Amino acid sequence: MARRDKSETPVDDLAEKAAKAEHARLEAEIAAHDRRYYQEDAPTVSDAEYDRLRQRYNAIEARFPQLRTLESLTQRVGAAPSARFAKVRHAVPMLSLDNAFAEEDVVDFVGRIRRFLRLAEDDEIAFSAEPKIDGLSMSLRYEDGALVTGATRGDGSEGEDVTVNVKTLKDIPHRLKGKNVPAVCEVRGEIYMTKHAFLALNKRQAESGGQIFANPRNSAAGSLRQKDPSITASRPLGFFAYAWGEMSQMPADSQSGMIKWFEQCGFKTNPLTKICRSVEALLKFHRAIEAQRASLDYDIDGVVYKVDRLDWQDRLGFVSRSPRWAIAHKFPAEKATTVIKDIEIQVGRTGALTPVAKLEPVTVGGVVVQNATLHNQDFIKGIGGNGEQLREGRDIRKGDTVIIQRAGDVIPQVVDVLLEKRSKKSEAYRFPTKCPCPLHTDVVREQTATGEEGARARCTGEFACPYQKIEHLKLFVSRRAFDIDGFGEKQIEFFFEEGWVKEPADIFELPKRNAQIKLEEQEGYGETSVRNLFAAIEQRRDIALDRFIFSLGIRHVGETTALALARGYGSWQAFHDACLKVAKGDEETIAEMDALDQIGETVIEAIKAYFGESHNRGIVERLTKQVKILDAEKPRANSQVAGKTVVFTGTLEKMTRDEAKASAERLGAKVSGSVSKKTDYVVAGPGAGSKLAEAKKLGVAVLTEDEWAKLIR
Ligand code: IVH
Repeated sequence: MARRDKSETPVDDLAEKAAKAEHARLEAEIAAHDRRYYQEDAPTVSDAEYDRLRQRYNAIEARFPQLRTLESLTQRVGAAPSARFAKVRHAVPMLSLDNAFAEEDVVDFVGRIRRFLRLAEDDEIAFSAEPKIDGLSMSLRYEDGALVTGATRGDGSEGEDVTVNVKTLKDIPHRLKGKNVPAVCEVRGEIYMTKHAFLALNKRQAESGGQIFANPRNSAAGSLRQKDPSITASRPLGFFAYAWGEMSQMPADSQSGMIKWFEQCGFKTNPLTKICRSVEALLKFHRAIEAQRASLDYDIDGVVYKVDRLDWQDRLGFVSRSPRWAIAHKFPAEKATTVIKDIEIQVGRTGALTPVAKLEPVTVGGVVVQNATLHNQDFIKGIGGNGEQLREGRDIRKGDTVIIQRAGDVIPQVVDVLLEKRSKKSEAYRFPTKCPCPLHTDVVREQTATGEEGARARCTGEFACPYQKIEHLKLFVSRRAFDIDGFGEKQIEFFFEEGWVKEPADIFELPKRNAQIKLEEQEGYGETSVRNLFAAIEQRRDIALDRFIFSLGIRHVGETTALALARGYGSWQAFHDACLKVAKGDEETIAEMDALDQIGETVIEAIKAYFGESHNRGIVERLTKQVKILDAEKPRANSQVAGKTVVFTGTLEKMTRDEAKASAERLGAKVSGSVSKKTDYVVAGPGAGSKLAEAKKLGVAVLTEDEWAKLIR
């Protein structure tokens, strides 16, 4: 069982009103984690913590069934697909598996099947027992033996079309082997990355300043969901077939028969798969696979038991969104004991101070671990309360013997401190009040959205703090920003220490200044590599607006937000003007920015702070002199409403406010929250009040929802 967060009321003690609020809160939190996990490949919590949230959510629904709606997470599988790929509707939904954690859960599972099929105690049930691969599930559709579509699971009903990418995997045949294959075959299974390939990939990514993945599963997902299939091709991905979707004809009548057939067709299937004929055999299989877990070169998070006979599978059917005929028997998180040699404070790009435990190296689940995150000062003091997993009543000190846990993630967590091993002389850890950067600025605690003191501490030096400067430079050259070939984290550190690159604009001055620097005389450089580096720098002087905005390192402005801003403003000039006005507190510009899709108060506050700082404005000004920022593609600039400013007010009956906003923006209109002389149209639904009155006063065109629909058609 996952631990309860100390600040949470047990579900059994929740009154209905509190349960309703908690259910809504968890739903939003889980949805945000799903988005980060499925669409951004960048989860921020461990699997164990995620499972804990889901279990609490399920427990609330079990106690208060009236809270369950069609929208409930219990009624959905996975997260909605990301918008980058075309959507594919699965002919047969891709469902999920129910979980068993304890041995009793397996006994219950088999008992349920026996009762459902009205089998006697001594009737044998054969199960196909298989490792549960921790990758991402994939549906491959073959028509007349040829691969036509490869789709991710997405939300179970609709996934993403990644056909061109899956075709680069050597484990995925483009054509099914054998004669007389059924006209339609959907082969399903798991795409995974081996542990050693994952570690090597992260090493390369770190060197080139690329994205670092949290675990092999995320790196497999990130590698597959690339716009450029040659990137997928360069990543070593494997595939195990274990299930199917639509089949025009069944080539076997058992799960094990289907697995054999997959092999004949040219697929790899998992070699550890085994037939088990009793609960004892299933549990023995679970123990045996768990014992091998660390030595396998791919991550698994449990085993799956499936009723082997397909006619029984058909009779058993599904409950909600999982089959009654299968269950995933999960493994507990992998743990190890080690000693904290030191506690280091790392300063991130935005000045956030993160304490990191430097560990006596130890192997957990086949991976050597030397660091563990300690999150923040409250976690170290043992007063976390925000979901981290340290055992109650523990604080963390230098020299402590601790238990660390790796739950699907490579960054492990400290979960317990062995107090009996603590030295009598040990002292409580004192979190620094000054930043470790040479400025030694005061450390402040961040404020939460509600104005309370947050757990995170920050250096107040901003870009004057060398750590923040260097972290910003690393982001600047990274693949997601300027993506300068041959300019990764290592090079930034070197150029920064030498004093050649102190801010982004300096990078573009390098070729000119090389007469003094003489880079070709530095170790690791020669004439050719210097020429290549400078050519790569020159090549990046033209930059897309969204990348440019992202590369500025404004807090809370990630790639998605940068894209939304770029689309909203179209040109650097327009965006920059708006930022300067926002920094001065210009209400109209703030309302305009706020009205953009995906932009809210947090981003606006961050833009205000960034452009309110003269040092930052200088950095931006010097940089813009070096580069040419390309306008964002204005979607459908030829539409009737392109370039117009629209305000929606009152109740819209045909679409939601968000939909209206998104469709207007897609057509190149700017949606604003307030009416001014610059407004071109006010679309007013029933109940419109002051904005409608203002529009009439200013003589702005007022449209009904239908008139608006006609205009944009
Ligand atoms: S069977 C109807 N077998 O686990 C269920 N799934 O939690 C079909 N998985 O979405 C799935 N190894 O991504 C099955 N041997 C295995 C598996 C497996 C990993 C994943 C799969 C699925 C998830 C369900």
